[in-house]
Amino acid sequence: MSYDPTTDKTFTLTNDQTGESVKLPVYDGTEGPSLIDVQKLYSQTGHFTFDPSFTSTGSCMSGLTYIDGEKGILRHRGYNIADLAEKSSFMEVAHLLLYGDLPNKEEKENFEHEITYHTMVDEQVNFFFRGFRRDAHPMAIMCGVIGALSAFYHDSLDINCPKQREISAHRLIAKVATLAAMTHKYSIGQPFMYPRNDLSFSENFLYMCFAVPAEPYKVNPILARAMDKIFILHADHEQNASTSTVRLAGSSQANPFACVAAGIASLWGPSHGGANQAVLEMLDKIQSVDRIPEFLARAKDKDDPFRLMGFGHRVYKNFDPRASVLKTSCDEVLEDLGINDPRLELAMELERIALEDPYFVDRKLFPNVDFYSGIILKAMGFPTSMFTVLFAVARTVGWISQWKEMIEEPSLRIGRPRQLYIGPTEKQYVDLDDR
Ligand code: CMC
Repeated sequence: MSYDPTTDKTFTLTNDQTGESVKLPVYDGTEGPSLIDVQKLYSQTGHFTFDPSFTSTGSCMSGLTYIDGEKGILRHRGYNIADLAEKSSFMEVAHLLLYGDLPNKEEKENFEHEITYHTMVDEQVNFFFRGFRRDAHPMAIMCGVIGALSAFYHDSLDINCPKQREISAHRLIAKVATLAAMTHKYSIGQPFMYPRNDLSFSENFLYMCFAVPAEPYKVNPILARAMDKIFILHADHEQNASTSTVRLAGSSQANPFACVAAGIASLWGPSHGGANQAVLEMLDKIQSVDRIPEFLARAKDKDDPFRLMGFGHRVYKNFDPRASVLKTSCDEVLEDLGINDPRLELAMELERIALEDPYFVDRKLFPNVDFYSGIILKAMGFPTSMFTVLFAVARTVGWISQWKEMIEEPSLRIGRPRQLYIGPTEKQYVDLDDR
């Protein structure tokens, strides 16, 4: 990044035991909290910082995404997420994240053409799929096949070559959709559908997921628009767990396909991208409105591991702006499809009761993006096990844009956190016969 943070501010840290002080530089970004630069803390004081789940740690400088969790703001390269979801397309947002600004007409056409012409995957990948059990979780397959792309595309693995980096970014954005659709087809025992270059990214994705060779398939424009919106809303989210995983993997100069596979593994967990699947499973367990109090009581019970899935966020402490957009989209899709899903009624009632409950109010626990996305995706015909895969299709844009930004940073060094060692001190080795 070319941004030069201000360095005239300092933060003084004093050791209460020795009285010794150090002045640490303080950096201002363009928005958001300032950061104290602790890079020289160890050499100056012999101390590390301790922040195991990174609640107070900035790991990089980035110009992609800005979040203000208190105000419920999410912006990509300065543009509000609600405007992007309403007015642009997923491909425009991909261009925005990857190249820094919304494309003009010609750039948009070129970019869409570029992505479209990378949607096919090496035919050999079909055989790779056949090694998986049909009942494998789609995310397990995705971890494998995305990582395996580095075995197929040797000509774009040199991370020091800007052109190769760009080709691998385009390949990932394009092929992750094809592979996600193949994963769905494989799990339901239907033939793979080859991509169609006359369709938009989201239309093509729905086509590859739901068409069959035996009959014509017409993409429903309302569903295609809803799919595109879901992709836009999930495209990037600053330094979340999976993005930080991609960056850390990439900091060792691993190839981008391997890095994104690492991101997919991190996304899979129910505290992160796996939550959309968990929301539907939770609603199915609750079953009816009269059982909501029982489940709310469980969510509040510290001895019960149950949490209200789709509620709460590490950063958003007011509302999740993505959830607001999706709530409206959810209504539109269900109305268009004429679906009267009792789960939606249940979800709305759960949301209403939870938002009036002091436990959730005091802890600022609001519905997050996953609370609504699951309901729309179910209505579209996706099985719950595919929900996190769809998140991965969208987030690949963010992962690869963040990876590109990091690789282009001249001062890139391998990420290497330290620790507070709490194991035994030195012991004498005991011979096997004496143990
Ligand atoms: N249900 C019940 N209690 C909760 C919940 C929940 N969903 N989320 C947080 N809490 C409580 C938690 O028990 C704690 O209470 P106390 O202060 O009394 O100990 C307090 O709220 C703070 O929680 P935390 O675990 O310190 O918060 P966190 O920032 O570490 O966790 C979270 C954030 C998203 C992992 C968590 O809210 C959660 O598990 N939510 C459910 C899973 C979910 O919906 N995840 C999707 C996140 S959005 C999509 C994405 O970014 O991937």
